[in-house]
Amino acid sequence: MTEAFDAVEVIRRKRDGERLAPEQIDWVIDAYTRGVVAEEQMSALAMAVFLNGMERGEIARWTRAMIASGERLDFSPILGPGGKVATADKHSTGGVGDKITLPLAPLVAVYGVAVPQLSGRGLGHTGGTLDKLESIPGWRAELSHAEVLEMLGGIGAVICAAGAGLAPADKKLYALRDVTATVESIPLIASSIMSKKIAEGTDSLVLDVKVGSGAFMKDEERARELARVMVELGEEAGVRTSALLTEMSVPLGASVGNAIEVEESVEVLAGGGPGDVVELTVALAREMLAASGIGEDPAEALADGRAMDVYRRMIRAQGGNPDAALPTARESHQVLAPSDGVLSRLDALAVGTASWRLGAGRARKEDAVQAGAGVRLHAKPGDRVARGQPLMTLLTDTPERFPRAVEALEEGFTVTEGDSADVERRLILDRLSAE
Ligand code: URA
Repeated sequence: MTEAFDAVEVIRRKRDGERLAPEQIDWVIDAYTRGVVAEEQMSALAMAVFLNGMERGEIARWTRAMIASGERLDFSPILGPGGKVATADKHSTGGVGDKITLPLAPLVAVYGVAVPQLSGRGLGHTGGTLDKLESIPGWRAELSHAEVLEMLGGIGAVICAAGAGLAPADKKLYALRDVTATVESIPLIASSIMSKKIAEGTDSLVLDVKVGSGAFMKDEERARELARVMVELGEEAGVRTSALLTEMSVPLGASVGNAIEVEESVEVLAGGGPGDVVELTVALAREMLAASGIGEDPAEALADGRAMDVYRRMIRAQGGNPDAALPTARESHQVLAPSDGVLSRLDALAVGTASWRLGAGRARKEDAVQAGAGVRLHAKPGDRVARGQPLMTLLTDTPERFPRAVEALEEGFTVTEGDSADVERRLILDRLSAE
């Protein structure tokens, strides 16, 4: 087959800061998916995009080309009279201790909205929803499209692996970006996330765009720009899209890892759990319900156990036993407060890196994660602490990992002298939508 363009010419154009032609974008994504554009050529192009950016029109075209690289799902068989009201999805740009999908999907399903959460595994310091759920004995992430539809039509929510057919160009490109330092690029993140979500065919989408040390976007302005681009891409494709900008310089909740995050999610579903996890779960649920035309207060279904009932059915339907004991780590190590005072800083990136080094995350795609590994937090910013008091418990099956995890935490927290510290935390920083 004669190729329409030459990869070197496309790379050169972006390298020199020029706009790519729509046909060049369509070709390069298609040719990369077919294996005609080589990995080293796509790495160079990704770096050129990282350095020189893309205009809105280029990002929209790039996103469409990635959607066209695979299949589009169709949830219409479960919608309409006697079925579900609508489909609504949530996507987080990735954080530390971010287990929100686990209580959120069943919570929204309580109100008759179908929630297809096609999720991924963690890479780097941010955790992956599937890794967390796979710590439940028997639970299976891979489902056929027919199984997904059956769960959505019956139980109302499903959390499973996105099939290989959905935006395959992104699967290749994301893995490449991860090893070429080209992840933190607004055009590349926006097109990566939105190609998958648009191909999935949800009616509405709520984005949780994280800001801070534990997020890909460290400052608020860049996070806001990412949110704006993604909302525009969604709306242009007919997906009702809104975004919450949320704080990610401190870990969410009191557990960072896999099984221990499932345990904390179950506490939230039982009406308890850490305040920040509950606040964000309810705020995102409210957004998803509003996008589906439902004005009810989701806090009620968390408090009265209805969301828990859906969660238990959801886990069982995927072979998991919601009553089984979760795996625990064989070894633990405590990090103690060095002095009396107030914990004034607890850095999300440091805690995420420690958890990853303990075995909760993976360094390469093919690595296995440890279900019991992670970090339990015994104090959060603003808490008074006494010298020698445990601040964190590090968990792993492989104790030789402790020194590197402790090293990650060395500059990761601060205890300030005195009785109080100015650590007020605003969890939800802003909301963006097309209106
Ligand atoms: N999540 C994605 O799916 N893609 C990105 O590029 C970043 C976060």
